[in-house]
Amino acid sequence: MSKVKVLFVCLGNICRSPLAEGVFRHQIQERGIEDSFLVDSCGTAAYHIGELPDERSVANAKENGVDYTHRARQFKAKDFVDFDVILPMDEANRSDVMRIKPHEGKADVFKMRHFDLFNLDADVPDPYYGGPQGFQEVFDIVDRSCSELIDYLIETYDLE
Ligand code: 4NP
Repeated sequence: MSKVKVLFVCLGNICRSPLAEGVFRHQIQERGIEDSFLVDSCGTAAYHIGELPDERSVANAKENGVDYTHRARQFKAKDFVDFDVILPMDEANRSDVMRIKPHEGKADVFKMRHFDLFNLDADVPDPYYGGPQGFQEVFDIVDRSCSELIDYLIETYDLE
């Protein structure tokens, strides 16, 4: 069976979306279903292309038992063709993504917190200019959203 291709999107691709990618990978490994997915993340902006994730984000995730790395890349129209599900972190990311949707684009687009039962459809706050508690808040949001997202994908794509 072909893999379900999942793409997380934020602005810079150094804080929120690489964390979401890392947490998603961690959770599918814990559930033993990592072979069912292809996972990536990217940013709508070009500022940080080629950079590693923000060290504050990586350190916070490590404290929560999640190790990850990534190289930042920019979102492109072809991602609508190459991926099945695209998950923008906030409303600005969602509208930036939708602006370059090609006619042949088939991916479903959901804001990440569509899957957060605590706060349906709110934005994942950008922790870049804030303090350390912002990184834990983002981790908690992403962690519980990924769990629901995985349940949704298992059901929708008939996995397991
Ligand atoms: P991210 O956070 O979108 O979660 O990766 C940001 C990273 C960098 C900037 C803004 C947000 N920036 O303005 O450089």
